[in-house]
Amino acid sequence: MTPLLAVRGLSKSFPGVQALANVSLEFNRGTIHGLVGENGAGKSTLIKLVTGLETPDRGEIRLDGQPVRFRNWREAQARGIALVGQEIQVVPESSITENVLLDRLATRGPLRRVDWPAMNREAERFVRSVGLDLPVTTPVKGLSAGQKQLVRIAKTLAARARLVFLDEPTSSLTEHEAGQLLGLLRELRSQGVTVLYVSHKLEEVFAVCDEVSVLRDGQHVGTRAVAGLTKAELVAAMIGREAREERLGRLPVDRGCELLRAERLTRRGKVSEVSFALHRGEILGFYGLVGSGRTETARLLIGDDCPDSGAVFVRGRQIALHSVRDSLRRCRMGYVTENRKEEGLFLAASVGTNIALTVWDRMVQRWTRRISPTAEREVGQRHVAALDIKCAGLDEPAGNLSGGNQQKICLAKWLAADCDILLIDEPTVGVDIGAKEHLHRLIWELAAQQGKAIILISSDMPEIIKLASRILVFRDQRIAGEVPDVDAPGRTYADISAAIGRYLN
Ligand SMILES: Nc1ncnc2c1ncn2[C@@H]1O[C@H](COP(=O)(O)OP(=O)(O)OP(=O)(O)O)[C@@H](O)[C@H]1O
Ligand SMILES: [Mg+2]
Repeated sequence: MTPLLAVRGLSKSFPGVQALANVSLEFNRGTIHGLVGENGAGKSTLIKLVTGLETPDRGEIRLDGQPVRFRNWREAQARGIALVGQEIQVVPESSITENVLLDRLATRGPLRRVDWPAMNREAERFVRSVGLDLPVTTPVKGLSAGQKQLVRIAKTLAARARLVFLDEPTSSLTEHEAGQLLGLLRELRSQGVTVLYVSHKLEEVFAVCDEVSVLRDGQHVGTRAVAGLTKAELVAAMIGREAREERLGRLPVDRGCELLRAERLTRRGKVSEVSFALHRGEILGFYGLVGSGRTETARLLIGDDCPDSGAVFVRGRQIALHSVRDSLRRCRMGYVTENRKEEGLFLAASVGTNIALTVWDRMVQRWTRRISPTAEREVGQRHVAALDIKCAGLDEPAGNLSGGNQQKICLAKWLAADCDILLIDEPTVGVDIGAKEHLHRLIWELAAQQGKAIILISSDMPEIIKLASRILVFRDQRIAGEVPDVDAPGRTYADISAAIGRYLN
């Protein structure tokens, strides 16, 4: 049988980089095909070429055996293709219903009025099936990154496509929601839909894919059936070496030196009575489902939102913070946001400028008040090297970088800021497995060697267990429980995840 989709000799280069080099691949009907590779390997580029978002330099694309070349996304959509891309694509001002049914607003009657009750009922079906439990008339603007992602997935389901591309769809979802999505994909497969699934979470690839293809530096390394393949083999194909599984060891938490404390912090509908203390050299994990109050708490701590009641103390002094900038200036406290596309990066600005942004006030020349380009370059180069950021140069616009490399810049920017207290929200979302090991060690060393106090918000249970010394479990906007001594010698992963699980149920 001819494959549903086949690409032959597909190539694409951007100034300074060959993003895809002579790639040939086939996607069979009714299968889930995984696509994996390091950050910048060319996965998103492949999807963009096939869906008309970018034009190939060379090569052929066949759908049902017929050569096609979509000039834009609409043409691909008309042929039954749907895409959940790596970028957040929601219309923030519109409701959930409008977002989900954006492409097919149902009109009725001679005046072609939109039949809202019918639309809401229709949207509701898809919204519930992805596990989003909100009224469909809710504006999308106020939703968390994870909830927005669920809206996009519901939209993809509503499109009833026969070929679905998902570029890291679970990157802002928790394990539970991700599990639900994988179930949905299996259901689509049983209906004959073909799925191309890009993910850095290899467990997901093993759980749901029939076949997996590996890209490295724009080249197709190979395609294998998932049955019989081991994780170690797949990782080796991706990064060209074996992964290292390491325990990082005990953190030297200084209990006598409290840097941050929250007392009964409350924000109506978001956070309720949250109290805890954070010490020098500590990594305090915030674990919980999307919408459980973790990020909302961080926003209150950093002055990005105002509490209705309760207090924040920094180094023992009660303080009212008014913005992220204010926190950095007055308290040397930084915040790596989970919404990097919306608030973390200036996509049009260069890589160098993005990294140096938080330290500009330390770089201005005394008399001229100008930013020293040499200083900016020095900071930029140091962090591009430290985090192994793949870019053509410091002058490249950040928006050109692959998703994972943009994420590294968000982190680099706050590392450059030299904060004593760092709130890090989902630091390795979309980061490849090799780079993830690297970032974990970097974050751990900030606490262990430089005595920084870190709040780590993560939906990635292995990550939070590996790094945190203590974990607060959030549920229904409050702290449901605390798991102490996570880094104590002898404690096992199973034992800690069971302790977390007890507070979630
Ligand atoms: N519009 C663009 N302009 C310049 N370079 C680009 C552009 N889009 C992608 N690139 C470059 O092409 C290469 C491949 O990027 P791509 O986004 O396909 O990687 P990826 O495999 O999806 O990585 P990730 O896992 O980080 O999302 C990268 O080096 C990236 O910087
Ligand atoms: Mg990508």
